[in-house]
Parts: sequence; structure tokens; C-alpha cells
Amino acid sequence: MDIKEIYETMDYGTAPESADEANAWLDKNNRIFGHYIDGEFVSGTDHFETINPATGKSLAHVSQASSADVDSAVAAASRVFNEWSTRSGFERAKVLYALARNIQKHARLFSVLETLDNGKPIRESRDIDIPLVHRHFYYHAGMAQLMSKELPNREPIGVCGQIIPWNFPMLMLAWKIAPALAMGNTVVLKPAETTSLTALLFAEICTQSGVPRGVVNIVTGDGDVGHMIVRHKDVHKIAFTGSTDVGRKIRQATAGSGKSLTLELGGKSPFIVFDDADLDSAVEGVVDAIWFNQGQVCCAGSRLLVQAGVADKLHSKLVNRMKILRIGDPLDKSIDMGAINSQVQLDRIKSMLSSCDPSKITSAETTMPDDGYYHPPTLIRDVETSDTLMQEEIFGPVLVSTTFRIPSEAVSLANNTRYGLAASVWSENINLALGMAPKLKAGVVWINGTNFFDAAAGFGGTKESGFGREGGWDGLMAYTRSKKIHKKVETSLANATNTGRDISINRTYKNYVGGKQSRPDGGYTKQISDPSNATTYDIPISNRKDLRNAVETANKASGWSSSTGHLRSQILYYFAENLSARADEFAALIDTFQPRGMSGADEVQATLETIFECAAWSDKFDGDVRNVPIRGLALSLNEAVGTIAAFAPADHALLGLVRMIAATIAVGNRVIVFPSEINPVIAGELIQVIETSDIPAGAVSILFADHSDVAKHTAMHMDIDAVWCAETAAISSIIEEHSATNLKRTWTQVNLATEIREFLDQAIEKKTVWIPWGEG
Ligand code: NAI
Repeated sequence: MDIKEIYETMDYGTAPESADEANAWLDKNNRIFGHYIDGEFVSGTDHFETINPATGKSLAHVSQASSADVDSAVAAASRVFNEWSTRSGFERAKVLYALARNIQKHARLFSVLETLDNGKPIRESRDIDIPLVHRHFYYHAGMAQLMSKELPNREPIGVCGQIIPWNFPMLMLAWKIAPALAMGNTVVLKPAETTSLTALLFAEICTQSGVPRGVVNIVTGDGDVGHMIVRHKDVHKIAFTGSTDVGRKIRQATAGSGKSLTLELGGKSPFIVFDDADLDSAVEGVVDAIWFNQGQVCCAGSRLLVQAGVADKLHSKLVNRMKILRIGDPLDKSIDMGAINSQVQLDRIKSMLSSCDPSKITSAETTMPDDGYYHPPTLIRDVETSDTLMQEEIFGPVLVSTTFRIPSEAVSLANNTRYGLAASVWSENINLALGMAPKLKAGVVWINGTNFFDAAAGFGGTKESGFGREGGWDGLMAYTRSKKIHKKVETSLANATNTGRDISINRTYKNYVGGKQSRPDGGYTKQISDPSNATTYDIPISNRKDLRNAVETANKASGWSSSTGHLRSQILYYFAENLSARADEFAALIDTFQPRGMSGADEVQATLETIFECAAWSDKFDGDVRNVPIRGLALSLNEAVGTIAAFAPADHALLGLVRMIAATIAVGNRVIVFPSEINPVIAGELIQVIETSDIPAGAVSILFADHSDVAKHTAMHMDIDAVWCAETAAISSIIEEHSATNLKRTWTQVNLATEIREFLDQAIEKKTVWIPWGEG
């Protein structure tokens, strides 16, 4: 036998990792667990089994928390909040550092326990999940230390309810708990019902690491327990990772509650291979994209889009690679794929595949264990873009593939999804690959790579993949809020008298849509008059059709989003110049219609300053580069959200309106704004200023409407990407509830005194672009 033959016939032996320590830990706890509340384990009731998916056998029993358990956990977290949040950053950093160290010391126990409970290969839990977990705690120990100096205007939110899924149990726990604690919050976390064990081991580590009682509470159970946390009146923030359907329910359940919310949901991420890609590397990329963690990854590259000329070649390489993937006991260090997390998930995958024409399916004919929940690596070719398998998350080791001819077709196929989590681009042409990144609607783009994660780099989605970022500086925004703003917008409470402006000709206002003034679709108007009844004003009443028209013009103005910051700043300065030319007139109108509060002259001044500040930021609201541990870069880019609809506040009719317009368009959004209902006249006059300021048609639309009438339609509109609301709690609640339709971002009960910086943060979507370098 020559060396070549030896290589070709050599097989793997088994390399089992010992489960002794993990079993000893389970035995020490009699394989029955309660909850971790106020620094102690409390025995639970109503226990259910947690299964080892690799064998189908029971590992232990965990408890279904009752509402009393959830109440005590929240009460403990509330009680200690003041003490924890007012500790110095250094004091909190020491606790996070101790957590990082202790997890690192027990890394092998965590990895084995994770593999036993989840079914993922030990190679992954040992080399990826758990190292990323302690990296996260180390990184956020640093953030705790830096908070007071680097984020002086931010404060913790309070008690955070955190609900996590089963695909990365410890990693998701770390992503949630580390930033929350670093910023001074306290938490009640619920792991997924099938994977609670590592969270319970973590609870033990909390006690060992000196986490004060009540700062971390862990309650176990199913979705009902999650729901209790979501609805709890003393929980101030909900952070959820899981399915889009549950995310939608949580959005609805929290609507109008004032709770802060971040949702990290599903995905159907494109994996785009151009004909000049290094195909062998791309094949290894696919292995990592869809067969890592058995494909149970929210950002899995589950849609292969391959340039037609190399499709056959790539598919054939893939099929050959699939054949030699080893599936089996996840504790064996030399296997590639372990078990699916549960029988339910395995059945879900199989049922999705049952709808597909079998001739399109290639499954690796690999041997699989008889017991446990296993699924072979699978490739499905020539799938229509509208096919359920192309559109829906399968959440298993199943790759669907289709072809494209030119880059623009790749972009439209990639974006043809309700999700927007991640994308992977493969090409040896750096110009082509980097040129794709801004065009892909996704929160993360990997160039010639896939599934890179790090504590320093933001991760999160757009569209129905949710909102909010985890990791890096961006992730801290989700666990802090602006310090309470005590200053009011008013600088004077002078009861201004009518300045005697004499407008005797009645005025008729129109909507401003697509760069033109237009009558409302329904033809209805309402009349108001100034306080002295000297002049009457006809104000349009807009309906859904007007909203649709405005959205259409906003869509057409997409060029505004790719315009340069320099151009946008010039236009904003010009807008200020034109407003300034009519400053006295606006001041008089404000004094007439808003006789209480800030004087007209002051409000105009504040408005001009707002426009200047937004213009100043337009070409300076930079992204940055994140220090990630790879040979390469992770760029954190600020991209416009898209089309934002904004409800202006009832008071400060000029300042409120302009703050929303200037901040959104400064960073490239298109905005549809609903002016103050109480005082629409100022908006009517402002339209003329906007018309003469070179703002491109469709970038700004102004619709006069009954806010409670249009709020629902605005929140549900599929082409509006975010809704801002400086209106009442009632209108905010309508918006939050109905935004669940397509999970658009909302920013409600906006306070005008909020710093412009925060307006701009709300007006952008962060995109992380990973660019590895080097030849090998
Ligand atoms: P799920 O979304 O139901 O579960 C995730 C977490 O939410 C668990 O802790 C669960 O107990 C909790 N939960 C369930 N209903 C809740 C409610 N009404 N209120 C509050 N919390 C609730 O996900 P599931 O059923 O485990 O998987 C279903 C599908 O979801 C998968 O096939 C996959 O497509 C997707 N999924 C996506 C994940 C992601 O990371 N994007 C993670 C897990 C599942």
C-alpha cells in the first residue's frame, strides 16, 4: 500500500470527550433543578425533562417557573438595582472580570454540558461557543470600566427581562447578560426549555464570582414563563432572541408599555458566490455557513446564490464535500455534525422538506446513529425564489441553491426576503465584493468568510430579522438610555401676546408630496383660525392613499440615501438660510399660535441651530473599525434606515417638525412627517421654505392628518422602515402594536430635548462588514 492509498483509505477513530465531570455535576444536583433567584437556588415545582438530543435520553429535570417565581426574581432584581447601578464602573468591572475568569476556568465543563444538552459537536462548544462567552465577559468588563468616561450621558435602563433560544444557549446568555451588567442593569433571564443546564451552571458561577444577590436571576420554563417576564410591570427592558413569530408576539405584548425592546430574530441569509471566487474556499465557507451547529443558526448562509457559469462546478464540489462530513456522537472530537436539538425541531425540518420535489434534493448518504435526532447535510437545487424553502427559515442542515447571471441580479435575489440578518459574499475581486456590501439589506456582511462573531463587533438585523445590535459600542445602546433630561425645551414661559401680524387673506395649505404641493386624496379639509379670528386656514385631511403616494415618492428618492454627506450638509445649510430669511414671520406665527412657552424668536433660533447641527453631522457621522481578533477588519458602517415616518409633537410646531426632518435626512433617510395637529399652520408655511431649498423630490413629504387615524396604517406599511413618534402615549401605543406586522423599528414618545446625537443614532442602521485578509 503506498502513501496515497493509505491517505485515501484512512478512517477516523473515535476521540470521545469524557462526560464524567458534567455527569458528576448533574449528580451533585440530583439531576433536578429549580431556579436561581436573589443569589440562591430555590427548589422549583412542575418539573420536566431535559433530553440529550444525541441519545434521546433524559439528562435531568428542570422546573417550569410559576408566576410567583417570576415575581420573586423580578422583585430581587428591582431591589438591588440602585445599589448595583450606582457602583463605580471599576467595581462592576471586577465582577464581570471574575465571571470571565471563572467561566474560562470551567470552560471544559461548560462545553461538555452544552454539548450534552444541545447536541452540538464538542469541537464547536469547546472552540467557538465557550471561548466567545468568556471573550464577551472580558470585553464587557472593559465597558463597565469605561462607561462613566465614554458614555457620560447614558444611564442603565433597570430590570432587563432576557429570553434566549436553544441554538447557542451559553453564548446567547453571555450576549445578553454581559452588556446588561456592564451598564449597571439587573437581569431576569430565561433559557430555552430544552437547554437550561449551562445557564444553571452559570448561576453557580455567579455566586462564586461575587455577583451581588439579585443582580442575576435565572428562571426556567417554556414560552409561558417568557410571556410572564414580557408582561411583568416591573421589567423595564426586554431582550429576545428566537423565532420571528414569537418576536412579533412580544412586540405586540409590549406595545404602549414604555418597555425598551430589542429583537434578534430569524434569517434566510444569502451566500453569494461569484464566478471568480476561490471555489474550494467557498465550499469550506458553505460548510461553516449551513452545517455549523447543524444549520440551527439565525444567520446561517442558508440560501446559496451562485453565478451560473460556476454553478455545476460548485455544486459538484459541495456534494463531494457533503459525503465526507462525519455525523455522530457530538462528544466525539472528530465528528463534524452532531444532533438536532429536539425531536420537535427534527420533525419541523422534515416536514418542511416533505413539500419539495425529491429529484431536487441531495442528502449525504452518511451513516448516522440509530438513537437521537440526526439529519444529514442536504442540498436542494433549482429552487424557485418564491418557494417556501427559499423564503422560510428551515433551521436545519439544509441548503437551498439557485443561480444568478450578473451582480445586480445577485443583489435583487439576495434582498428578496422578509429577513435582513446577514450575507456572505465570495469573490477574488475586492472591488466587486466590497461594492456588494452596501447594497445588501443585512445587518452583517462577511466578505470571503462567514459566521465571524466577536464581542467587539455589532450583530443584529433589519426588516423581520428584528432590531437592535448586540456587541461592541452599538450593543450598549440597547442597555442604556439617555440620562433623564431635566431641561425643558422652553427657555421662557413668557405669555406672549399677539404680535399684531395681520394676515387678512385666508390661507389654503396642501400636502407636500414628491416635491410638489398636492391636494389630499379625499378632498377633505378642516378649517382653523388664529386666536384673533383674523385669518382662517384650510388644512388638508390626508388618508391612506395620501400615505401610499408619499411612500411611493420616498421609494423613488432612494438616491438620497446614497448621496454624499457633503451634499446633504450643503442642502441642510441652504434650508437653514431660507428659513432664516423668514425668521421674523415664523417667530410671529409661533407667538400667535403658541402663546405659552418659548418665545417665537427663541424657537426659530433653536430650529436654525438644530438644522446647523444636523448639517454639521451629515459628513461626520462616521462609522469606525472594530478591533476583532482576526487577520482583517470589521467595519462598523452607519447606513440610513430607509424611509422613516415621523409624528411631530403637538407643541413646538416648528422645532418639533424640523428636528425630525433634519435629523432623518442628514444621514440619508427619506422622511414622511405628520405635523402637529394642534398647530398645523407653521408646517403649512414651512412647506414653502422646503420647496425652495433644493431638497430632492420625495426625500421629505409632509402630510396633514388626524394622527390617530393614520398611525395604524403608517405602522403597518410594508415600505416604511421605521416610525418615530413625539406624540401622546396613546398614539405611541398604536404604532408599537401595529409595527409588529413587519417588525419595523419604532422610536416613541420622543422628547424634543433629546440630544441630536441620539436622533441621529435612531436614524441609522449599523452594518458590520467583516473583511479578512491574507492568502491562507
Ligand atoms: P421560540 O422563538 O419559540 O423560542 C425562543 C425562546 O422564546 C425560548 O426561550 C422560548 O421559551 C421563548 N418563548 C416562546 N414563546 C414565547 C412567548 N410567547 N413569550 C416569550 N417567550 C417565548 O423558538 P422555537 O420554538 O424554539 O423554534 C421555532 C423556530 O424558531 C425554529 O425552527 C427556528 O426557525 C426559529 N428559531 C430562531 C432562532 C434564532 O436565533 N433566530 C432561535 C431559535 C429558533
